[in-house]
Amino acid sequence: MTAPTSIPALACPALACIVLAAGKGTRMKSDLPKVLHPIANEPMVAHVLRAASALNPDRVIVVVGPGQEGVAKAVAPHATVLQPQQLGTADAVKAARTALGEFDGDVLVLFGDTPLVRPETLSLLVQARRGAGNPAVAVLGMRPADPAAYGRLVQDEAGGLTKIVEYLDATPAERAIGLCNAGLMAFDGRRLWAILDAIGSANAKGEFYLTDAVAVARAQGHACAVAEGDPADVEGVNSRVELAKLEKLMQARLRRQAMLNGATLADPDTVWFSADTVLGRDVTVGQNVVFGPGVVVEDGVTIRPFCHLEGVVVRREAIIGPYSRLRPGSDIGAGAHVGNFVEVKASTLGNGAKANHLAYVGDADIGEGTNIGAGAITCNYDGTFKYRTQVGRNVFVGTNATLVAPVQVGDGAFIAGGSTITEAVPADALAIGRGRQVVKEGWAAAFAAMQKARKAALKKG
Ligand code: UD1
Ligand code: CA
Repeated sequence: MTAPTSIPALACPALACIVLAAGKGTRMKSDLPKVLHPIANEPMVAHVLRAASALNPDRVIVVVGPGQEGVAKAVAPHATVLQPQQLGTADAVKAARTALGEFDGDVLVLFGDTPLVRPETLSLLVQARRGAGNPAVAVLGMRPADPAAYGRLVQDEAGGLTKIVEYLDATPAERAIGLCNAGLMAFDGRRLWAILDAIGSANAKGEFYLTDAVAVARAQGHACAVAEGDPADVEGVNSRVELAKLEKLMQARLRRQAMLNGATLADPDTVWFSADTVLGRDVTVGQNVVFGPGVVVEDGVTIRPFCHLEGVVVRREAIIGPYSRLRPGSDIGAGAHVGNFVEVKASTLGNGAKANHLAYVGDADIGEGTNIGAGAITCNYDGTFKYRTQVGRNVFVGTNATLVAPVQVGDGAFIAGGSTITEAVPADALAIGRGRQVVKEGWAAAFAAMQKARKAALKKG
């Protein structure tokens, strides 16, 4: 071990993040703004904001277009500013000018449609901006397998970045450059506006390109830097084909993370996560399990194949599935069992409670150690309103019982199979709510004989 040294903390410039999300997203062919299309059940822009937030920025501003109130709502409490007309990426950054006011730290510009971007990549870019030569602009470069229509980074002999040329404006020689513009840039906030004000729109698209910031900064006598990132991190979504591709990449990341955190996935490729899924240690997940939003699974839980979970907390050592459906607002107690073809909605199951087969537990509170028999159903809905069912501890709810809510069952009660329960059942009582059984001796044999005789008569006639 080396002796601890005390390094005086360096004063880091403050950091603001501007997320550009005002583009029309025409190729999505959608009424939903592009950045709201989900990846791992969260809007794309939420992923970008999560990565940005990991850098602890002092400000975050999202640039939206007209009619994109939905985006403003989705990114709240982050501030949004309106870019009235989509005149290009430089114009979009300018839309944040008033909101930034006198801010003179570093300004990181991100795109709302690159949901795979990781904090490490952003940090790399910010470090490049703060690095040697105090560059006015740092650009995130990448070398994708197919450079396609990305902007190209043009360097001088010394490797210094001289300009970015958009594909449409590039010469054949420039198009042959493999180093591409990932889109993300970091600026020295004190020089940002002077640079943006000097950007024109004399190019193939007639737009104000943020990428021109490099050539302008150089012309103003400033240095520019490049940080090279992983192309997989900064891939963008333009169509639903790319949306599906990035969803797969994100799922692969989430699966890997779950395993690194101590969960066993029997067949990782068949398990689907939401960005906010939380799995504890020694959780085992079988094949074909889907985690919708808002799922927390505590340590030691087993989820058998073909389960669908959403908005639920599953507590320690519980066993779920196969074929269980856990719906929002549910809390499954420690060591509880939820089995095949059981649906649980907005309900709590106490520790060690069991609902092992073919049951519907909706708007119910089921006490510790209670057993819900096969086919038992809570009737929580009268067509207009919903009502709760309260079942105490160590209750035995017989097979095919129908609990008509609102209704309460006391601790230790026993409900006979096939009962329809419409009134409160006191603790330790037996409740039977069904027609009495009638037995007619010899009836079946007589009936069979009669049928046989009728059949024979028909044949003759
Ligand atoms: C941009 C870069 C290109 C880079 C590529 C990487 C420019 C000029 N070009 O091209 O060099 O290789 O990203 O993916 O920056 N937006 C606004 N307002 C506008 C225009 C765009 O908010 O007026 C937003 C979009 O919503 C999007 C982002 O800016 O989030 C990028 O715009 P887009 O049109 O997709 O740029 P590209 O053509 O992909
Ligand atoms: Ca794009």
